[in-house]
Amino acid sequence: MGEKIKIISVVGARPNFMKVAPLPRIFKKMTDKITHLICHTGQHYDYEMSQAFFDNLGLPEPDFYLGVGSGSHSEQTGKIMIEFEKVCIQAKPDLVIVVGDVNSTIAATLTATKMGILTAHIEAGLRSFDRSMPEEINRIATDSICDFHFVTEQSGMDNLIREGHKPENIFFVGNTMIDSLVYILDKIEQSTILSNLGLQNEEFALMTLHRPSNVDDPKQLSNLIDVIEFICNYIRLVFPIHPRTRKNIEEFGLKNKIENIKNLIVTDPLGYIDFVKLMKNSQFVMTDSGGIQEETTFLKIPCITMRTTTERPITCQIGTNRLVPPEKSKLIQAVQDVLFGSPKESQIPKYWDGKAAERIAEIILKIFKKDK
Ligand code: UD1
Repeated sequence: MGEKIKIISVVGARPNFMKVAPLPRIFKKMTDKITHLICHTGQHYDYEMSQAFFDNLGLPEPDFYLGVGSGSHSEQTGKIMIEFEKVCIQAKPDLVIVVGDVNSTIAATLTATKMGILTAHIEAGLRSFDRSMPEEINRIATDSICDFHFVTEQSGMDNLIREGHKPENIFFVGNTMIDSLVYILDKIEQSTILSNLGLQNEEFALMTLHRPSNVDDPKQLSNLIDVIEFICNYIRLVFPIHPRTRKNIEEFGLKNKIENIKNLIVTDPLGYIDFVKLMKNSQFVMTDSGGIQEETTFLKIPCITMRTTTERPITCQIGTNRLVPPEKSKLIQAVQDVLFGSPKESQIPKYWDGKAAERIAEIILKIFKKDK
């Protein structure tokens, strides 16, 4: 190991960018001890799905770009492994940091671990206990082989201990995604998204939808569009469409159905500043995302999560989140509760305070005995 600790953080898909963004800001203050490099696998590549987040979050341009693009799970994972191995041979990192649960996360962990490089997983230990979710496989596989676990909520600690991981390698540090949210909140005044969408003085709800289980089946997707139609009888709804969902709406012949709903505002995927501005000003959010459950909890905005399971139970236990199976009647009932019922009392989870990356950096210095 050289004088300084050489770290490569790996990002690939949209939700990775905000989880990594606070790290370079902290590591920049430790350049006498740490060299920090960023590797972007290119799993997401459209401007709105990738570069917009680098721009909004002040993330430095990646030092390595693997350009793997889309493909089947094996194809994508395999391509990332082949290319990331070359990066590790060239750069010889002391530590590889991976975040979240996307294909880039497991691919980079598998590559580095097999090369004998230490690995740390940010957002470790989360479990939905639903193995039909590709992310659940990525989470279990990543945690089972990585060396250090950085955890966002108590359930993650409990899961890792139950699975037999060494307590001394598990660290409850909080949530780096919330670090990014805290960072961006100062900047959302810059966003003109409300006036761009004609929403300055109007109440609105916000929806995102992209999980394969919700959007890859024509009947399910059509049912969810019926729910959208129901919501739009009462309130305007902003729906930034993920590329996977857009492609399926067109393929399944549902484009007309969507276009005919009045009060529905469909947009391309949005950058982080615009999206946070919308979330913060919305009456409620409907989503099947992972991270949005946490962001709405922090912002204290009611959230209906259109899934049967969540890997982030704290958001339901003490946050504003409510898990609702994605069936038409149940979702409509939940929407009515939010529109006409009284809001749920909520709290912000422990360590979701904007300082998780600082805690992680201190622990890394200790691990490499550079904390003096
Ligand atoms: C991936 C993650 C998921 C995360 C989501 C956020 C995995 C297994 N899934 O799912 O956990 O919640 O990112 O978006 O890693 N596409 C584009 N432009 C892009 C990226 C994708 O058009 O920049 C299209 C392609 O047609 C691609 C499809 O979207 O086939 C899906 O992309 P992919 O990376 O396979 O998975 P996501 O559904 O985005």
